[in-house]
Amino acid sequence: MTANTKLVAGNWKMHGRRDMAAALAQAVCAGAPAGVDAALCVPFPYLAQVGDALTNGPVALGAQDLSEQDEGAYTGEVSGGMLAEFGCRYVIVGHSERRARHAESSARVAAKAARAVACGLTPIVCVGETLQEREGGQTLDVISAQLEPVLSLGADLVAQLVIAYEPVWAIGTGRTASVAQAVEVHGAIRHALRGCAPEVADAVRLLYGGSVKPETAPGLFAGEDIDGGLIGGAALDAASFLAICRAAAAAAR
Ligand code: 13P
Repeated sequence: MTANTKLVAGNWKMHGRRDMAAALAQAVCAGAPAGVDAALCVPFPYLAQVGDALTNGPVALGAQDLSEQDEGAYTGEVSGGMLAEFGCRYVIVGHSERRARHAESSARVAAKAARAVACGLTPIVCVGETLQEREGGQTLDVISAQLEPVLSLGADLVAQLVIAYEPVWAIGTGRTASVAQAVEVHGAIRHALRGCAPEVADAVRLLYGGSVKPETAPGLFAGEDIDGGLIGGAALDAASFLAICRAAAAAAR
């Protein structure tokens, strides 16, 4: 069984104002097509408000990070239990912006993924190579090393993951990976999943992220093993995000 229904998750990153968050969430909720799972991963301060706007609708709520700790003296951190209490279904972990800016190691990313699952959340684990690594022919080695700690958590946990391939050089640059480049890496990730958790490997959804736009989404979503997208800039515009959602719904049929 493969993951037939695609997942399109918007990552608002550190964008928004209260009035903008409400209007954008309402517009996405009102226009979300059938046949796709959609989610909005919003800044922590907007979780309650966006959660209210999405209540009983087709779009799930998500956050952009969590602590690997349960609770305690961790100033500035947010726990998975708190996210669950606010109605989050998804949480992004290991985004390249956090790996780079906050020195998050792959071991820590795996601990965060495990913590998310323990709290009933679905972690969207991000991996991706820099341009220098791609040009050095290291892409698949880098992805494999980033995935290794999370795949060692065991098949039961792996079954709960979403994995997002986000080449760092494609994020926010307008330079999307070609379908062939994305398919190659997604195929390698699927192969790694089959190696460590064969019984669940085909059901784990693999998202592509990096400058996905309404124009490029249909081609990407038709690619083998591309089970949806993690959308940055285009998720800040309801019409663009919904067009990407429709492309995912159409590709799943
Ligand atoms: P862009 O779609 O803006 O390139 O961002 C992708 C991303 O980082 C999503 O997590």
